[in-house]
Amino acid sequence: MLTAEAIIDIAALQHNFKFLSGKCPSAKMAVVIKGNAYGHGAVEFAQALPQADAFAVSRLPEAIELRDAGIKQPILLLEGCFCLEELKLASALGLHTMIHNKQQLQELESASLDKPVQVWLKIDTGMHRLGFSPELLNVYYERVKASTNSLNEIGLASHFYNADELQSDATEQQIQCFDKATKNYSGPKSLSNSAGTLYWPSAHYDWLRPGIALYGIVPRVESTGIKEGLHPVMTLKSKLISVREHKKGEAIGYGHNWTASQDTCIGVVAMGYGDGYPRTAPNGTPVLINGRKAIIVGNVSMDMITVDLGPNALDAVGDEVVFWGKGLPVEEVALHIGTLAYELVIKLTKRVKKTYI
Ligand SMILES: Cc1ncc(COP(=O)(O)O)c(C=O)c1O
Repeated sequence: MLTAEAIIDIAALQHNFKFLSGKCPSAKMAVVIKGNAYGHGAVEFAQALPQADAFAVSRLPEAIELRDAGIKQPILLLEGCFCLEELKLASALGLHTMIHNKQQLQELESASLDKPVQVWLKIDTGMHRLGFSPELLNVYYERVKASTNSLNEIGLASHFYNADELQSDATEQQIQCFDKATKNYSGPKSLSNSAGTLYWPSAHYDWLRPGIALYGIVPRVESTGIKEGLHPVMTLKSKLISVREHKKGEAIGYGHNWTASQDTCIGVVAMGYGDGYPRTAPNGTPVLINGRKAIIVGNVSMDMITVDLGPNALDAVGDEVVFWGKGLPVEEVALHIGTLAYELVIKLTKRVKKTYI
């Protein structure tokens, strides 16, 4: 049966986990598997990482899915609970919850929970998205500590906004801000996403929270996971469904946005925006076919992509085409398309069959 396929390499995932743990063996790791493990399959990933200290997701339904699948490790809700009902469920499921605003603090204080929850306080050290200002830490901390709904140990967390930019001093400032705010508190501390884990040893603290690097992808646009010692976990591929002769001067596809400058062969591949491959991929975006790079030409359709195979190409119907993964870093493809690798891997649709190896 012909279908687009994402091969998910569990050995690569395990390599990446070990590689990241090696960056700070004394720290624990909350593996970020929100967004269905960035499109890779959250349950499968959690099952493949029994050695993970914890998992982290954004929203309660993601944690429920993991608990329903029998995942026993702690699960941290990175955005916390959005209402009392959620807090009650978080308590029942033994989740860790982030508190980043007044409403969440008040709900913790007013809830009647069957058992206390593990709370993490989120301090805004510069991202200005979620979190309260460092000056308010004492107030939040004391109120959480006084609540019988909180376990005694209170975690302290913040998030980087620019840690993939190694030259920028923003990250150093965030680390200093976090240090200053938290130095008199004894609870576990967590600041590092993948970029922090990979590039900022002074930000490792007690818990790492890497996401994208687990999948073998680095957050820096100018680099690739493979260059930095990570292994790509997802390889997206499909097959040629047609190979056609194409004359110089002929255009191709919807909108005719590419015209051949020479006689050539065009390969038509069973992949399109209906599979999650971006419609915005421009002419020149690379793919791999029979061990060489070829380029996408013409607009991406819902079910098909057209590729310039070159004059007298020997490629045949049924040959495999790799869109990213082993041999073609997803970071490189993302750069061509003008997006992030995060967005490419997470947006694959249900039509893409996932095969775990
Ligand atoms: C709070 C928090 N921690 C950790 C991560 C993991 O980030 P990354 O995938 O860049 O490692 C994210 C993801 O956006 C996040 O929101």
